[in-house]
Amino acid sequence: MATIKLGAKGDRAVRHRHPWVFAAAITAVDGNPAPGDIVDVVDARGALVGRGYYNEHSRIRVRMLTWGDTAVDDALWRARVDAAVGARAALANRDDLTAYRLVHAEADLLPGFFADRYGDVVVVQLLTAGVERARDVLIDAVAAIPGVRGVFERSDTASRGREGLSPVTGTVSGDVPKNVEIVENGHTFLVNVESGQKTGFYLDQRDNRALVAEHARDRAVLDAFCHTGAFAVYAARAGAKSLALVDSSASALATARWNLEKNGAGECTVAMRTADVFEELRTMREAGRVFDMVVLDPPKFATNRHQVDNAMRAYKDVNRLGMQLLAPGGLLATFSCSQAVDAASFTIAVSWAGIDAGRDVQIVRRLGQGLDHPVLASFPESEYLKGLLCRVA
Ligand SMILES: C[S@@+](CC[C@H](N)C(=O)[O-])C[C@H]1O[C@@H](n2cnc3c(N)ncnc32)[C@H](O)[C@@H]1O
Repeated sequence: MATIKLGAKGDRAVRHRHPWVFAAAITAVDGNPAPGDIVDVVDARGALVGRGYYNEHSRIRVRMLTWGDTAVDDALWRARVDAAVGARAALANRDDLTAYRLVHAEADLLPGFFADRYGDVVVVQLLTAGVERARDVLIDAVAAIPGVRGVFERSDTASRGREGLSPVTGTVSGDVPKNVEIVENGHTFLVNVESGQKTGFYLDQRDNRALVAEHARDRAVLDAFCHTGAFAVYAARAGAKSLALVDSSASALATARWNLEKNGAGECTVAMRTADVFEELRTMREAGRVFDMVVLDPPKFATNRHQVDNAMRAYKDVNRLGMQLLAPGGLLATFSCSQAVDAASFTIAVSWAGIDAGRDVQIVRRLGQGLDHPVLASFPESEYLKGLLCRVA
């Protein structure tokens, strides 16, 4: 096994159980590890810190799997999947819920591996050379979960390219239909597992949708960046007066229409627009439109720390537009899923938006990702979703 030696400064983060070892932290590579090989990681004095998998093509040279002298073998991979699945038992036992995240990569001690359950189907993403090596044991472990009829792979993210890997999609176990109906907090949604965004659905927003529903009765609600309309469906079922949905994806909106009909949008007036949210919200503002509640759930505006300044401007702009459309005392549920923008920075962007809009903004709740998307305390990057529920005077 090859050995990766850390410099005196470089070993600090790893000792603190941060799972990423960057090239700058490494002083020597002893041996010739191939992408995905398991390596020993030693400190500046040569003492073993732990083991992880290596990839010279990636900025993150090693992703740590163990600390101390523990073997990385099939039994370890399998035990990690079983532990992650076991931790979701409370969700698995609910009658009103058939979709949730089973494995959340680093935060479940399985860097590079994601698994989402959609009814009797599991969708997996293997995003690094290291987990490619463990492909069979990982897929077998999720395929063996009781009630799972098939496993579909969606390893089609840009991050795979940075690992020197090409995209892979397709059924890897059993049989998988293109569309799966799921139930979330008693609401039914159609999920396109083959080509929907992410693995098909934004599972991380489940708790925040329930919160929006609590406040939606008799309100005119704008669901901006709505994807397949999940926030809007909750609002409709909770008795919203009217709904406006905006997204740039026509196929996501087609599914949103199906979802609204399936859940009985009832007396609610529904308007849908395939459009750029920034443009559409400006048009609405010029037309004098007013809402009682605005949900803003944009895509990642920053994919790395170099993009944070631009992302901060975009968060400020979109939140200003959202606030300008709110009636006095209206509610804004606003989110950022950019890992590189931390919660404090996001709050600053929202406060700038309030200043620009000339409105007083009260934060009534701080929001985050659901409990099936845990945050690893030693890995702040795993806290990627942040949100604020604000009352805008
Ligand atoms: C984080 S997802 C929203 C998830 C959604 N709220 C849900 O609960 O399912 C972001 C959405 O924004 C859409 N999008 C990205 N850029 C956009 C833009 N400039 N204008 C409108 N929609 C955009 C994407 O198509 C995607 O559906």
